[in-house]
Order: sequence, then structure tokens, then C-alpha cells
Amino acid sequence: MPSADRAKRDAGYYAADLVKNGMILGLGTGSTAYHAMVRLSVRIREEGIFVAGIPTSHQTAMRARELRIPLTTLDDHPSPDLAIDGADQVDPLLRLVKGRGAALTREKVVADAAKHLVIVADPGKLVQVLSGPVPVEVIPFAITPVMRAIRTLDGDPRVREGKAKDGPVITDNGNYILDCRFGEIPDPVRLEEQLTALPGVVECGLFCRYMEKTTLVVGEERGCRVVLGRRAQGI
Ligand code: A5P
Repeated sequence: MPSADRAKRDAGYYAADLVKNGMILGLGTGSTAYHAMVRLSVRIREEGIFVAGIPTSHQTAMRARELRIPLTTLDDHPSPDLAIDGADQVDPLLRLVKGRGAALTREKVVADAAKHLVIVADPGKLVQVLSGPVPVEVIPFAITPVMRAIRTLDGDPRVREGKAKDGPVITDNGNYILDCRFGEIPDPVRLEEQLTALPGVVECGLFCRYMEKTTLVVGEERGCRVVLGRRAQGI
């Protein structure tokens, strides 16, 4: 197994082992979060723990059903105990770029609602300075003015195209994704504020508000390295 894949698996399994009986979980999207779900399903089957997950995408909901992880909603459980999710980039302050899989809006809603956020990653995701590209979810009606506004922020926005579909990717919320290149992002907090303030933007893939409640789990050769945000103890 290639080392990045092994690192993702180890990080995912480590995160699933942090889960306690009775917890309500945010279930992230992507390959690393999937490993956590696989391990969780084993714990449900073999240890008999009870958990329920709030999926952040159609893909995660489908995978959770296959793995027999019970599902619930934010309507029934507005404050999940823990969200487990991957990231595209993580900086030393635990700020993130997310959204390669176009699930960033639901991922951010769940991360915001959760008491703790566990980010699972391979070492290739760690960067000194976030540099994107930053995915931005936009309602189709607003795509042209939003692209123009992003250019005034020195960004280069591209409409994300489908791989097995002609034309734009349509998110689980019925919107478009702009992949926006800014080069190195010296002030991600400000850029997140600027992007999310644009009318028609639903969310952007910069996650700068959850550092304190974040636990970062990085799969490494000799086991997992864990970095705790200031309020991340006591999961
Ligand atoms: C989904 O939209 C993304 O935010 C993923 O969580 C992120 O891209 C990490 O994916 P991998 O774990 O597959 O690298």
C-alpha cells in the first residue's frame, strides 16, 4: 500500500478509536474520513458501541449505509459530540483548506455545530502557508458577479467541471464550485471573511474558525502524530 494511503488509513482508524459509546458524530467526506467510517463500523459490529452519524455528503450517507453506521440529522442532534473529517491543506495554526470533494458547505456546517473537530490527514496535507486552490460554492444565478468579485481580490476563479459529466459540477446543494487560485494566502482569516461576504457565495473552503476545538491526527511512519487545539482536550 502506498505510504500516503497507509497514513490516511492509520489517521482514520486513530480518529475512530477516539469515539465513545453513545456519541453523535459528524461524518466527513473523502478518502481519509472513509477510513474512519470503516473502523467505526467494525467497532459497532464487534464492540457493540452505539453511535449515530450526520453525513456531510450524499457519498458519505451512501457509504455509511453500506457500513451499517446509523444515521441521524442536525435537526435531531444540533450539537454533535465530534466531527471527523479530512482536509486538503492544514497550516501550523490548524487552519484548513477543504472542498476537493465539493462537500465544503455541509462539512463547515457540521464542523461549526460539533463540540470537537478531528481532522485526519496524511503528511502531504501539512503546509507552512495555505495556498489553495480554495473551493467556493456559489448559487448558479450569481456565478458571473462572484467570479468578477474574486478577481478583484486577486484570485483566479475557474468553474469546476465534471469528470464523468459535461459541464459544471453540481454540488449536493444544487450549486456550482469555483476553484480559486490566490497563490500563497498570507491572511486566510480575512480571505474567508471576504469570500463568504460576497452575495451568492454559499461557503468557501477556508476553515479558520475551528482551530481551538480541532484535534489534528497525522498518519506517520511510526504511528500517528496528534496536535491539539487549545480547547481540544477531553474528547
Ligand atoms: C471533501 O469536500 C473534502 O473537504 C475532503 O474532506 C478533503 O478533500 C480531504 O479528502 P481526502 O481525505 O480524500 O484527501
